[in-house]
Amino acid sequence: MPHTMQLIHITRLSIEWHDRFYRHVRDVFPGADFETWANAGFWTNRYDVLALVSDGEIIATAGRTLMLLSQAGMGHGEGFRTLREGMQLGAVGVKAEFRGEGIGRHLMTIVLREAERMQRPVLLFANRAARGFYSSLGFVALESDQVVGHFRISPSAVPARRLSPHSEEDRRKISDAVVSGSSHRGGLAARTDLSILLWHLFNTPVRALEVCEGRSIAFVEDEPDGTLAIREWLGERPRDIAPLLPHLTERPVSRIVFGFVPPESWFDAGLALVRDPDSHMFLRGLSIPVRPICFPHLLRT
Ligand SMILES: CC(C)(COP(=O)(O)OP(=O)(O)OC[C@H]1O[C@@H](n2cnc3c(N)ncnc32)[C@H](O)[C@@H]1OP(=O)(O)O)[C@@H](O)C(=O)NCCC(=O)NCCS
Repeated sequence: MPHTMQLIHITRLSIEWHDRFYRHVRDVFPGADFETWANAGFWTNRYDVLALVSDGEIIATAGRTLMLLSQAGMGHGEGFRTLREGMQLGAVGVKAEFRGEGIGRHLMTIVLREAERMQRPVLLFANRAARGFYSSLGFVALESDQVVGHFRISPSAVPARRLSPHSEEDRRKISDAVVSGSSHRGGLAARTDLSILLWHLFNTPVRALEVCEGRSIAFVEDEPDGTLAIREWLGERPRDIAPLLPHLTERPVSRIVFGFVPPESWFDAGLALVRDPDSHMFLRGLSIPVRPICFPHLLRT
């Protein structure tokens, strides 16, 4: 461990640290870019970073997003949800040459002590390789569910219009849909967050598509083996999803997988609930009594 390490707090206003933070993230998580997202104005005061610095360079980070968590089944009957401010961690990373020296544990201990003091539950989605790290810090691994459907879908000749995160007008449409968005179902979800949603649009292959004559926006992504992932759905939710599916894809699809728990009526089209082996969700300071649990994909940091 370096002899001198300084703890710093980076917010959207600490611009003197931003370039070093972007560089650190690009080094530790190849392909991840916070710069485009921040330059477009989506680093809000609900996101900050605790970082350790040595010789003026960032060597470890933990990004914190405040979120309004929504929890089902607290004994008040079907449909009642409890709202509670929580924190999701992301960009937890130590520079390669400093790993295995206790730096990650040191930074996480500071983050978790503060969360405890503020009585905030903490959640995160871990990389497969880092699962042991979080278990050793008092997090509990939570199995996630996934809703899937087997359909044979050929693309429509009239595909849905794609919205671009680089277009101000399209971003406004997405922002309006977030404001009027309906809440998610399942054991644990959170209020939809424009800033995180746009991070995904800037950084991942997810596409935003305008459907139902502009009254809804579907966020979809192609997955291997003819699978179409419907990651998020904002705005009006039609009673039946089946007729819309051909407009959401440009290639034949044999399987649909959802990134959230869809409305009850969509299950009539033949949807089923299965365990999600690829989601490594960890929680601290909160227990979730109700299944299914499918924390919305586009709210994961
Ligand atoms: C995961 C990571 C943040 C850990 O930081 P680190 O400084 O190397 O970890 P530490 O040296 O503080 O180790 C803390 C403890 O976790 C354990 N640990 C660390 N990395 C681990 C891993 N990948 N799997 C299992 N246990 C791990 C250590 O053995 C140690 O246990 P101990 O305190 O009982 O000895 C760091 O390895 C990293 O940046 N990895 C690449 C990016 C990444 O995957 N980030 C996680 C995103 S979810």
